[in-house]
Amino acid sequence: MAHTTPGRITLGIETSCDETAAAVYHTHNGLLSNALFSQVELHKQFGGVVPELASRSQLEKIEPIVRHALEGAHLSPPDIDVIAVTHKPGLPGSLLVGVCFAKALAWAHNKKLVGVNHLEGHAFSAFLEHTIPFEHLCLTASGGHTSLYIIRDFGVYETIGTTQDDAAGEAFDKIAKLLALPYPGGPVIERLAAEVNFQDFFGYPRATAHSLDFSFSGLKTAVLYDLVKRGAYDMEHKKLIDNSLDLKQKVASSLLVCIADIFKEKIERAIKQCPDIKAVSFVGGVACNKYIRAQLQELCERYSLPLYTPAPQFCTDNAAMIAFVGNYKALRGEFSDNTLDILR
Ligand code: KG4
Ligand code: ZN
Repeated sequence: MAHTTPGRITLGIETSCDETAAAVYHTHNGLLSNALFSQVELHKQFGGVVPELASRSQLEKIEPIVRHALEGAHLSPPDIDVIAVTHKPGLPGSLLVGVCFAKALAWAHNKKLVGVNHLEGHAFSAFLEHTIPFEHLCLTASGGHTSLYIIRDFGVYETIGTTQDDAAGEAFDKIAKLLALPYPGGPVIERLAAEVNFQDFFGYPRATAHSLDFSFSGLKTAVLYDLVKRGAYDMEHKKLIDNSLDLKQKVASSLLVCIADIFKEKIERAIKQCPDIKAVSFVGGVACNKYIRAQLQELCERYSLPLYTPAPQFCTDNAAMIAFVGNYKALRGEFSDNTLDILR
């Protein structure tokens, strides 16, 4: 199959953290394939991502995953017009695997290369399934980032708030670890919270700063001290003493309600500050959370704004969002050359 229009078919590659992913996006027909190898099982035993293990697994999986994505789209490398790859931010060793692979493939087949910012990928991920009016507000909440953007056009956005320390997903993951719950923490905390009907048992502290910035490291400390105060956690040996389901459910539920309240407070503040926005999007791994989605839906309805959230497979790290961004960058001629570096 031969294609002559530049940017018509984009292969996206994503290896910024613990996933190895590839996808094919067609300018007119949308997403043609989306392949991913998850490392969750590999990192579970360590309670978090081990960078050295992540990049070694990516080195093994990158070729079969790219092959799988191409086969899924019934294409081979010569049919691709553009190769888009995440080059920042992320784990250096992991980013290098994707960038080196993309460069080699682009060089071998004489294809155009586009470096994509992982956060831009998340910020536009809801476009894979929806047409969202500009300008709109976007909350990105993942394991590594929590940011609020005003999105004015494809690739044109302004950061109006960001986390000063930990990301929201990181708070779920770290508190899950305190509670001896498996990694990643978000899904298991949501399940436990649902079992007790999303009640706020412990009233953890909410955001107090009168700004659009976030801070989640204090929340982890507050949960830890509250556990110690209840005689449920041994600080000296860093060990949970009270292993009861009852306690885990109450902490999980109180934490989830607290994080949802923080998001609501920041989004409401942003809506009031930015009266021209026409919609709100909620993206990133934490956007898988049905409770937070429902809470934000209610808030947006009060302001008559539509809320857009991607399907779960496009909330967590994926290459479809990278192919999508690569596609619009390619259409504008925003290519990278073979000096494309990571983190810059
Ligand atoms: O976007 P993502 O896959 O990776 C990063 O770019 O960081 O996000 C992973 C994060 C993890 O912290 C995980 O705990 C969180 O998303 N997460 C959730 C849920 N599912 C995943 N957080 C809350 N509720 C969920 N259902
Ligand atoms: Zn991500």
